Amino acid sequence: MVNIKQFPILKTGRLILRQITADDKEAIFCNFSDEAVTRWFFDQPFSELQQAEALIDEFDQHFVDECGITWAITLKDENDVIGTCGLEPYQKGGRGEIGFDLVQAYWGKGIMSEALRAAIAYGFECLSLQGIDADTYCDNKRSLILLERLGFSKREQVADYFRFSLELMDWKTVK
Ligand SMILES: CC(C)(COP(=O)(O)OP(=O)(O)OC[C@H]1O[C@@H](n2cnc3c(N)ncnc32)[C@H](O)[C@@H]1OP(=O)(O)O)[C@@H](O)C(=O)NCCC(=O)NCCS
Repeated sequence: MVNIKQFPILKTGRLILRQITADDKEAIFCNFSDEAVTRWFFDQPFSELQQAEALIDEFDQHFVDECGITWAITLKDENDVIGTCGLEPYQKGGRGEIGFDLVQAYWGKGIMSEALRAAIAYGFECLSLQGIDADTYCDNKRSLILLERLGFSKREQVADYFRFSLELMDWKTVK
């Protein structure tokens, strides 16, 4: 296991995943006030900038407490946040739950697949996770396809959502 006091920056072919800061509040607010994005994980889209500020504070605290980590997704050479992804919550050496959202204009380009591959690798390699879970609504087609593309398996249906998971041993064969 590594010491994660320093927020880890992850780099992929097209992306940089970095810490979300107070300067990103407008971008976070913008994406989380889009009903097409938030209908899959919030009851109501954000209506006030303070909600974005509070969420960023929450992410900070989870990082400090080593119980959750969420990255800002940015394109290389651009600092603007185009989405987020993370493991919230996680337990070192145990399991983590993956979450993700992307600004609509960037859907259909493979960006989230690329970002999540890095986040998942971080979870298994640096947080020593044994498995990663994901809950997604049964009619969230993009999310279902994405999880299956990344090697997650559908375990069960609970009410109107599916529970997916990716185990360490299985990840080693799909990565
Ligand atoms: C879920 C979400 C992140 C999926 O976004 P996405 O862009 O479909 O996912 P990916 O980044 O994997 O991209 C896949 C698409 O890019 C295309 N693509 C292009 N290049 C690609 C590449 N190198 N690798 C993979 N896919 C690629 C694929 O063909 C696919 O296109 P299609 O949509 O026309 O079939 C997005 O819809 C979203 O933010 N939804 C709202 C929030 C949400 O539902 N969160 C999850 C809650 S559980």
